[in-house]
Amino acid sequence: MNQHEIRTLKALMEYEAARTAPPETFPQLPDLPGGRYVDPTFYELEMAHLWRKSWLFAAHLDEIPEPGSFILWENIGQPVVIVHSETGSINAFYNTCSHRGAPVVTEPRGRKLRLTCRYHGWVYNHEGELLSIRDPEDFKDLDFSCRSLVRVRCEQFGKLIFVNFDNDAPSLLDYLGPIADEWREFQFDQCRLAARHQFVLNCNWKIAMEANTEVYHVKSIHPATVSPILDDRRNVNTLYPRGHNRMVAPRPAGAFQTTMMQKRAEMNEIASVGEIARTCTQSYGVFPNWVSPLGPQALPPLVFWPKGINQSILETWTLAPDWGDGPAPDMWTENNGEDLVQVLREDTEFGAWIQKSVESYGFKGVPLSYQEARIYYWHQNADEVIGRENIPTHLQVPSVIGADWVYPNDPRQAYLNLA
Ligand code: FES
Ligand SMILES: [Fe+2]
Repeated sequence: MNQHEIRTLKALMEYEAARTAPPETFPQLPDLPGGRYVDPTFYELEMAHLWRKSWLFAAHLDEIPEPGSFILWENIGQPVVIVHSETGSINAFYNTCSHRGAPVVTEPRGRKLRLTCRYHGWVYNHEGELLSIRDPEDFKDLDFSCRSLVRVRCEQFGKLIFVNFDNDAPSLLDYLGPIADEWREFQFDQCRLAARHQFVLNCNWKIAMEANTEVYHVKSIHPATVSPILDDRRNVNTLYPRGHNRMVAPRPAGAFQTTMMQKRAEMNEIASVGEIARTCTQSYGVFPNWVSPLGPQALPPLVFWPKGINQSILETWTLAPDWGDGPAPDMWTENNGEDLVQVLREDTEFGAWIQKSVESYGFKGVPLSYQEARIYYWHQNADEVIGRENIPTHLQVPSVIGADWVYPNDPRQAYLNLA
């Protein structure tokens, strides 16, 4: 982040603290229809479009560090195997033999010179090419070149491995847009994988994610954990193209040391991390399902996945600069990955209750404030990805946040005195 951007952000923080109403040009946000959390139609639309067309964070290079290492990835139901090939590239394929669909790997992870289907013994290399089959004389004119494993788009940002089921999707870098530039200082190509865990939550995945997409809840839910270190009235939300977003909130004057801060103080630092990430809480939402506060000691994404309509999986990751031979840091769990840390126990506390509410006869919709604009913007973008014409009218979210509010545009800058 350059000096001008830092000055602008600091001025925006003061603007937010001083305002007595939402900015004049910020639109009135219509209620989100409650059906978006419970209606099977909407769930199916998410499956058919949103999960199919977005870049999804699937794995970290440290999980498949050597040629031949692979990991099975099924977080969105599709059977995918991600392989570190002999040539060094990272490839993803449907874990589906071209003969009769048996899997080419059955272990969650491992290392293999060849991918061999155990049903009838067809053998593939790490590029997915069919190398040999049993009893070839019994097939008439089998063209090996048409029987490769089917590829899934797979691209990297540093050591992060993303997949996309849409062959027409833009590149991962284009998809991330300005975020890719802002993330350079965090050195995603250097950070090691320190921890990865999954927790089942009894609510729709968006209910879980939205608890991490606004700071309106901080004073109520996190009085002892987040509130002392986050000045919510000075929070600045930024909306990026394609539904991505960011929040930046400074530490309040006289912030005291919380357990979380003590934990961080003991960790190594990413030297290139700039002033804002060192003095503020800076968290990114990457559409559709990634939320991550990025700081000098750790890059700890929280990633949310659907597990049916009314259950979800919270995947907690910690990436960190080299910690040597000491214990790997984990920002999000305790008791060896058994339990969420307090701040996430707080964030997930109401999920099942809210799910019961949205399923009830009494629930109609969700009114959102200016502070919760990132949630509305996410839904607005989801409808664009799904295609408004595919969504029943009563489940749609009108597109009211205009391009004037999407980065690099920001009407708030007109109120700033940056001289
Ligand atoms: S299904 Fe794989 S070899 Fe037959
Ligand atoms: Fe929270």
